[in-house]
Amino acid sequence: MKEHSGTELPLSRRDALAALAAGAGVALTACAPDGDGAGDSGAEGAAGAGAEGAAGAPGEAPPRAWVKDPSPFVQHGTNLETRLEDLDGLLTPNDLFFVRNHAPTPVIDPAAYRLAVGGPGAETRIELSLDELRALPSHTLISYLECAGNWRGFFQRITGRTASGSQWGTGAVGCAEWSGPRLADVLALAGVGDDAVEVNVIGLDEAEWARPMPLAKALDPDTILALTMNGEPLPPDHGFPVRVIVPGWVGSSSVKWVGRIEVATEKVWVRANTTSYVLVGEEWPADRYAPADGAPITTGAVKSALALPYPADLSRGPKMLRGFAYSPGGAVAGVEWSANDGPWAPARLIGTPEALPHAWARFEFEWEATPGSHVIRTRATDAAGNTQPLEGVYNEKGYLLNVALPHPVEVG
Ligand code: MTE
Repeated sequence: MKEHSGTELPLSRRDALAALAAGAGVALTACAPDGDGAGDSGAEGAAGAGAEGAAGAPGEAPPRAWVKDPSPFVQHGTNLETRLEDLDGLLTPNDLFFVRNHAPTPVIDPAAYRLAVGGPGAETRIELSLDELRALPSHTLISYLECAGNWRGFFQRITGRTASGSQWGTGAVGCAEWSGPRLADVLALAGVGDDAVEVNVIGLDEAEWARPMPLAKALDPDTILALTMNGEPLPPDHGFPVRVIVPGWVGSSSVKWVGRIEVATEKVWVRANTTSYVLVGEEWPADRYAPADGAPITTGAVKSALALPYPADLSRGPKMLRGFAYSPGGAVAGVEWSANDGPWAPARLIGTPEALPHAWARFEFEWEATPGSHVIRTRATDAAGNTQPLEGVYNEKGYLLNVALPHPVEVG
């Protein structure tokens, strides 16, 4: 069964159990409630993970951090950046979708895989096989996914200061169709206690990447445990067999290779909301955010980028320039462009962005390329009126830059 975005309510625990039993003919493994406030790392209760990329014999080629062919990408350590100029449709093909890995892609045996759901805020602890997850009602949505550090490589040019971390250009972003059970339905199987506050989602990679979210976000009907990406089983690099998709929140929240989900009765602090993915700088005094080093990031920012190399080389003559625009605050309502600090003019939106509030929007405009050096900017505005600023604000770790980006274009 395939549902579409946003209108259906999550299943009750009883409904979900009934659907599961009817669909798969299998029983849940219910374990004793653990109630011990287990920490935020580890992959207890989940089986079948093994990391590709363990040290090889002397003289062997160094292990790769990914399974996919890295050649179409810009490589930054364990990360692969998409070249936006390679994209034209609404959906980013899986083999061109950027990869952000804190550790090498793990290889997970689907037959041995179990998702453990429990924690002090859950009524019971359960384990679900992949077949059991597949038997739950499936929800489909099209959502963009962007790393909070996308555009970090432009901080020096925009603010005069370099930010630490991978120097991404514009390509740590993509847009895909994701399908799988709602996180709310899976939580309902374990039962959520009245004292539940947060839900922590923990990955099976060596980094044991985890990101907690408030219960309300976990129960949002568009927060799903994706089993497919663009109609195919999740590729290994994108979280096979299960990843969470948290529309509107930055990519670090969309934990890949999910092995364990812990329902917590108090706020959970992990790397992803204390030392990483936090805004650090004078405007975010650490004492206000302790134990985090700065303001933890949840949602991304409204942005737009040209689907051109940076900088771009174009031949002279009339050109149709295209790009992508997106916002965590809902659909993009408009995109403007300006060349060489000239007046802003509206770009054409392609398709009907308002029908897909979590997707990115494509835009295009005609530009007469005349010989010389040019700078083109684009500026998106979302349905809530959020728009890109003309000046960027520095933060030490280089997150959420969303200035109307000056894109250099040389015309020969
Ligand atoms: N999940 C796990 N388990 N390990 C990771 O390193 N990286 C996060 C998130 N989920 C990560 C993870 C970050 S920072 C981003 S931006 C997205 O995955 C990137 O998703 P992608 O590699 O599918 O593009």
